[in-house]
This record gives sequence, C-alpha cells and structure tokens, in this order.
Amino acid sequence: MVPGTSNCIPVMPEPKLASFSDLSPAEDDFLGDVIAGLSASPKSLPCKYFYDAHGSKLFDQICELPEYYPTRTETALMREKAGEMAAVIGPGVQVLEYGCGSIEKVRVLLDALEEPASYIAVDISREHLRAAAENLAHDYPALQVHALCTDFSQDFDIPEGIPGERRVAFFPGSTIGNFETQAAAAFLKRIAAHVGKGGGLLIGADRKKDEAVLYDAYNDSAGVTADFNLNLLTRINNELGGDFDLSAFTHDAPYNVEDGRIEMFLISSRDQVVKLGNRMFEFAAGERIHTENSHKYEIEEFQDLARNAGFAPKQVWSDAAALFSVHYFEVE
Ligand code: TRP
Repeated sequence: MVPGTSNCIPVMPEPKLASFSDLSPAEDDFLGDVIAGLSASPKSLPCKYFYDAHGSKLFDQICELPEYYPTRTETALMREKAGEMAAVIGPGVQVLEYGCGSIEKVRVLLDALEEPASYIAVDISREHLRAAAENLAHDYPALQVHALCTDFSQDFDIPEGIPGERRVAFFPGSTIGNFETQAAAAFLKRIAAHVGKGGGLLIGADRKKDEAVLYDAYNDSAGVTADFNLNLLTRINNELGGDFDLSAFTHDAPYNVEDGRIEMFLISSRDQVVKLGNRMFEFAAGERIHTENSHKYEIEEFQDLARNAGFAPKQVWSDAAALFSVHYFEVE
C-alpha cells in the first residue's frame, strides 16, 4: 500500500476527563476523632469511617439484602420515572453530583436527559473518583465530564466555565438522611447557592413508614449491618492499635419515633476497659456508642425543609408501597 493514500480508519482519541480539580480535602484525623468520640458522653464514633475497602464491600452487600429496601426502591423509581424526571429537568443541563462514588446511579438519569452538556463528579476518594469519572467519560463521549476531589460536606467552589444552560444537583441514596436536621438544612442551602436561580435539585429521601419495616432494614437477619457497624471497631484495632473485643459488642439500630430516625449503636455486652495507645476507655454493661443516624422524611416534611433552603417543589415520585421518595426542586 502506498503511504499517504491509505484506506486506514481514523483512530478516534479516547474520551478523556475534561478536568480533574483536586481541592486537597483535609486528611482524616482518625485517631483524634476516635479519642474525641470515645471520651464524650454519650460515646460516639463518626460514620465517615465506615467506608474503608471492607466497609464499602459490606455496604454493597447491605444494598442487596431482602430487608434493606431503600437502594432497590430508589433504583426502580429512577428507572421507571427517568423520562418524567428528564422532562421536568429540561435540555442542555449541567449535572453536579455530590458523593458520586462509583458513578453508577446517575447513568439512568444521563441516559434519559435531553443532551446534557456536562457532568461534575464530586467525591473525597481521589483515585476512586478519577477511575470512575474516566469510565463515565469513556461511556458518554458526548458529555463533558469533570471531576472535583473534595469533601462535599464542607463548603467549596465549583470551577467556572463548565458548559450547561442550568445546573442541576443530584443527591441520591437518602444520604441527606444521614445529616442531623440542622446540618441537612444547611447543606440544602449550600446546594441552592451552588445551582443558583433557575437551578435544580434531584434528591432521594427515605420516607417514614411502619416501624418494623424500618427496624428490619437496619437490623437484618443475616447480620451484615451488624458486621458493617462492628467494622468500625476492627478498623480501630487494625489501624490505631486498639484492643476492642469484637465479641463483647453488639449492633442495634432502633427507630426513634420522636426524632424520626434510625439510630445505630454498638453496645457493650459487659463492663470492660478498652485500650488505645496509652489511653483507656471504660464501658459499662449496656453502654452504647452512637455511630450513625438515618432520618426519615414524610414527603411534605422534606418539601418544607427544602423550601426553607430556598427551593420550590416541582415534582415528587414515590413507589406504590410509599417507601421512598425522589424529589425535584428548583430555585426560583
Ligand atoms: N444513607 C443510607 C441510609 O441511611 C445508607 C446508609 C448509610 C446505611 N449508613 C448505613 C445503610 C448503615 C445501612 C447501614 O439508609
């Protein structure tokens, strides 16, 4: 073959991330946080430490449990209603996702949206974020994909110049329920500031319901949620040199009706002393370590919370069993 006259097929460049902005989120102070939490009364541990590699695997297993309805209910809702969601959201938008993880959930939305202009993935886990965003860029060549490494629970600026007629935030998984009510209100205000006038928010929120259904979702019969909760103590032992006896703590996650939330605890089965470096932490039999809350919201209750943050309710979707809700709001 004569060079230059080729019948060669042009090689398209691999779609790349349009940008990766590293806002250098502060390193975790695991030891400091554990000492502070176990020194407090009542004792607590921050839920952000659930998600090491093993914890993330256990969480994926939780999502598959028969009792744990939120993930599958939200996923089914998104699949069934993506067309309606896309219609109310409109064309040419910029999608911004807080805590995007593996960037799987947003795909059903992106598939339904009319010519989305760009997607901004926000997550704290740097290398996981890079890989997940590159995968998305590869699968959606027409979409400008940007990644932003930061702790979304802290205030941050969004890089300028990313295309899109309007900005629409996406916050699935009822992660908003893991914030205290005050913090949830403050976070919604920050989202409203991020998306600006005319911007939107598509957000998943777990609903209040029969207490037994709620209880079983966080106290599964296979004990996976218990393992997930106890993994915090394993991490303290492995990474900080603690000497927690895992057989002397049990998991319980009761529903607090008054506060409308599941509260996760690790409970000491006996009087005991746990060593961590040169510190000692005393536990009485039955004493609890609080590890997480998961607030449940009636539809109207959640709309009020969003209204107070400057959002107008536009549409809401729920399943036939009234378990879960996906809301769309706009800043007017
Ligand atoms: N936000 C979800 C919820 O509260 C997922 C979640 C966070 C979770 N931590 C958990 C689920 C602990 C089970 C156990 O339901």
